[in-house]
Amino acid sequence: MKIIHFSDSHAGAPPTGWKAFTDKRIAGTLNYLLFRKKQHNQEILRELCTRILDLKPDLVVCTGDITSTGQPKEFQTALEFLAPLIGNPSFRFLYVPGNHDKYVNDGECGEALHSAFAKINGENLNLDDMPLKIRIEDCEFILVDETTPTNIFSSCGYLDEKSSYAIEGWCHEKNGLPKILVGHFPLIDPHPILRLRKRLWGQRKIVKCLSEGLLDLCLCGHIHKPYMDVDARGRGVVCAGSVTKSHSFTMIEHSPDNGNFTFHEIRI
Ligand SMILES: [Fe+2]
Ligand SMILES: [Fe+2]
Repeated sequence: MKIIHFSDSHAGAPPTGWKAFTDKRIAGTLNYLLFRKKQHNQEILRELCTRILDLKPDLVVCTGDITSTGQPKEFQTALEFLAPLIGNPSFRFLYVPGNHDKYVNDGECGEALHSAFAKINGENLNLDDMPLKIRIEDCEFILVDETTPTNIFSSCGYLDEKSSYAIEGWCHEKNGLPKILVGHFPLIDPHPILRLRKRLWGQRKIVKCLSEGLLDLCLCGHIHKPYMDVDARGRGVVCAGSVTKSHSFTMIEHSPDNGNFTFHEIRI
C-alpha cells in the first residue's frame, strides 16, 4: 500500500467582515501578512498535486492547517489548489483539521470547515462524527479532531475523553490490521516543555497504546519541519512538516509481506 502524507499548507486571506476584527483573527492575519505569506507559497501545491498523481498512491493524507485563520476565503483557496486530488476515483483522500482550521468560534468559519472536510474526505464523512475508523486496503486509519478554538496566546490541541476512550478501544481490537492514527498534533512533542503553548494535551492513554505496540503509526503535522521517530519496522511517529515551507512531502509504503513501513521524504 502506498500512502502520500503532507501537511500545513496554510492558505491565507485578509480578514472578512467586521467580526474578524474583534477576535483572534486580527493576530492571525498580522502573522500571515508579516511571515506566513512569504513562507507558505500556495503555488507549491500545483507541483505537489502533479507529483502525487504521478506516484499513483492508494491513499493521500493531509494532517491539517490548510488555512491560516480558518476563514471561508482561505478554505476556498486551499480547495482550489488541492482540486486535482479531491474526488479522484483512483485513491482515497483523508483530511483532519489543524488548529488554524478551527481558529475561532464563528458560524461562517465553522460552516466552511465542515464543508471542506466533507468535500475532501467524501460527502459521507462528517466532521462531527470524529473520531472515525476507516479501513483502506490492509490498514486501519483512525481520524481524530484534536482542535478547539484557543485564546490568542495558545496553539495547543486537546484530545477529549470521548475520543481518547474510543481510540483506546480500537487500539485494543485484535484484528491483525496495522492501526494508523491520523491527527494534526504530534502525540509526543519533541520539546514538551519549550512548546507548552503549542503541544497536545489529553493524549496520555494513546501514547501508552503506541509504546505497547497496540498503535502502529501516528501521522501528524503542526511542526513545520518534517521529522520521524520510528523503530526498525517503521512503527512510531511521522510528522510531514509544512509542504509549502519545507517543500517536501512523505511517501509511506506498507509491505503486506513483512508488515513493515518504509518512508521516503520527497522534495518538490
Ligand atoms: Fe501549521
Ligand atoms: Fe498547527
